[in-house]
Amino acid sequence: MTRLVPVAGPDDPILREAAAILAAGGLVAFPTETVYGLGADGLNPEAVARIYAAKGRPATNPVILHVDGPASARVLVSDWPAAAQALAERFWPGPLTLVLPASSAVPAIVRAGGPSVALRCPAHPVALALIRAVGRPLAAPSANRSQHLSPTRAEHVASSLGEAVDLILDGGPTRAGLESTILDLRGLDQPGGRARILRPGPVSLADLSALIGPLETFEGAVAEGEVQTAPGMAQRHYAPRARLELVAPGSGVDEAVGRVAYVGLGRLPVLPAGVHGVRLPLDAEAVGTRLYALLHELDDAGFDRIVMERVPDSDAWMAVRDRLRRASAREMP
Ligand code: TXA
Ligand code: MG
Repeated sequence: MTRLVPVAGPDDPILREAAAILAAGGLVAFPTETVYGLGADGLNPEAVARIYAAKGRPATNPVILHVDGPASARVLVSDWPAAAQALAERFWPGPLTLVLPASSAVPAIVRAGGPSVALRCPAHPVALALIRAVGRPLAAPSANRSQHLSPTRAEHVASSLGEAVDLILDGGPTRAGLESTILDLRGLDQPGGRARILRPGPVSLADLSALIGPLETFEGAVAEGEVQTAPGMAQRHYAPRARLELVAPGSGVDEAVGRVAYVGLGRLPVLPAGVHGVRLPLDAEAVGTRLYALLHELDDAGFDRIVMERVPDSDAWMAVRDRLRRASAREMP
């Protein structure tokens, strides 16, 4: 049986045990403000290899290193531009991951053999306390099997990864509910170059460009394996088991064939008998917090088909739109 232990806060004694497991090369799942992470000592290649095995993650997909602040980040990169310092001061601890050229301190397996490293300082007090207790950066992807939904509750981790994890710290449901914004800063060393958003998330485009100027956004997707181009940008990702379809707001569904759930935004249209209706508020942040937990619930309840209304086209909805597009993509790239 996997051990799933409640953690009350950063002073909970269980964190000492968790840190000892990590220092010995084990795996500990822990809460962050975005989703649960599957943590390992980020400077121990064998421990990081266990993450890949537990998730069934392709070796071409690098992992994020979690640090306790800018000072710990700087030793992991060969260049720490002024923009990185400004962003870290403004948004760390918080849901922003920075991609920079890696220093020789970063093991190849963390980078998936590439030249860069992704760094993030999480805002959850338990995550920060754990990083400090281990005294090293923690490699931590989302704590789910590769290509499945990210976990926003400890139970999601247990059902997705089970035995493969030495300890799951249960800090309750996560606050933001969507993975961090990933920003590649390497373009900035080119004259006229811009930073590029690789994954939209809780820190918005507007927040970022207010601080460092215009950005490039990454639209579209590449095949799994094209690591050097844009790792992790596989089309289908974050997918529930049920088939997810996106429809125009107010569309409803014609008939209930199989077990169908309909997710409306703001209000629910009249639905045929037998269709399970779920109403979400027309509020990007609230939908972000709730989305994965809802998809997990509908999967667990055995729905075959989830029909969800498209979210608005505005920047505020960028992260939710991105996850829904990926979750509803039919084919593997
Ligand atoms: O909110 C989050 O970021 C969560 C929590 C646990 O911190 N972590 C997370 O990790 O979502 P993961 O591995 O599920 O997603 C990280 C993404 C992957 O798509 C990966 O390809 C990308 O970050 N990534 C990691 N290192 C990279 C690098 N050096 N360059 C570009 N992308 C990178
Ligand atoms: Mg993930």
